[in-house]
Amino acid sequence: MKNLLNVLRDDDVETELMQVIETIIDASKEIAFRVRQGALAGVLGSTQDENIQGETQKHLDIISNQLFKDLLLACRPVAALASEEEDTVVEANPTGKYLVAFDPLDGSSNIDINGQIGTIFSIYRALDLIPHHSEMQFHQQGSQQVCAGYVLYGPSTLLAITTGKGTRCFTLDSTQGNFLLTADKIQIVQDTQEFAINMSNSRFWSEDMRCYISDLTLGETGPRQKRYNMRWNAAMVGDVHRVLTRGGIFLYPSDNRNAKQPAKLRLLYEANPMAMLTENAGGRAWSEQQRILEIQPQQLHERVAVILGSANEVDECLSYLQR
Ligand code: F6P
Repeated sequence: MKNLLNVLRDDDVETELMQVIETIIDASKEIAFRVRQGALAGVLGSTQDENIQGETQKHLDIISNQLFKDLLLACRPVAALASEEEDTVVEANPTGKYLVAFDPLDGSSNIDINGQIGTIFSIYRALDLIPHHSEMQFHQQGSQQVCAGYVLYGPSTLLAITTGKGTRCFTLDSTQGNFLLTADKIQIVQDTQEFAINMSNSRFWSEDMRCYISDLTLGETGPRQKRYNMRWNAAMVGDVHRVLTRGGIFLYPSDNRNAKQPAKLRLLYEANPMAMLTENAGGRAWSEQQRILEIQPQQLHERVAVILGSANEVDECLSYLQR
């Protein structure tokens, strides 16, 4: 089986970009080790602190963020970082060419229950003429990403990654410490009978979204004329991985729970990388009115609605929203 670095070399990925990816991989291997150790490594439980988004930070959020930050700051091609756990942009190396946005630990509510969690990352080229510490560096559309991926810390540790030439999956061989290619050029099936959404929010959705989901739950007796199943991992990495593996639609729509925050998932380090992975696997990724990768970011921690997965099902959902 080919290992990650050989595959990237075959794809002619630039040496400096490879260094950035290798650094992310090194950090994620360390996190995978600590996650496996669980309570024995002291990674469970919450701290007394909140991040800039007002979420209580778990010990593993802080440990993972620190690990990524330390390794990426020491990686010469990295110009600046943006993390879910950092209030502002973190400047790295003056000669760096790349920007890394990441969610060091996605699905934090699953940490203490031994559930699926992950790391999501996105890499852009740094812009000339803009200081590295400026947030404007990160105001690039998702279509400008040069690499996107996630590491899923599940029963096995998996890496899904794309540099624009298809989406691939690698499994961590813990005996050698290498990520080995286990799914090449993934193609998400176009039709599906599986959806993922947090149903407990349904009363806060738009009427159109409620109608779409209600028609799915009517199954073969409703207008969709087929039976649907529902899955919800409460960790985007787990839900998106299922979509990449066997198709499906993943939704975190906008809602009216909190007028100041109509969406939950973050554009830069959740929606954009997942959208690139999905589209490079033949799926669709929209934010209700717009393709996610075409959204012009306005803020570092901006949130957007997310609808992604099997192309025909996403189109069907969008047709309800455009009624
Ligand atoms: O913040 C991100 C996240 O944990 C995602 O990984 C996941 O899809 C979602 O939030 C879970 O949200 P909820 O708490 O509504 O189930």
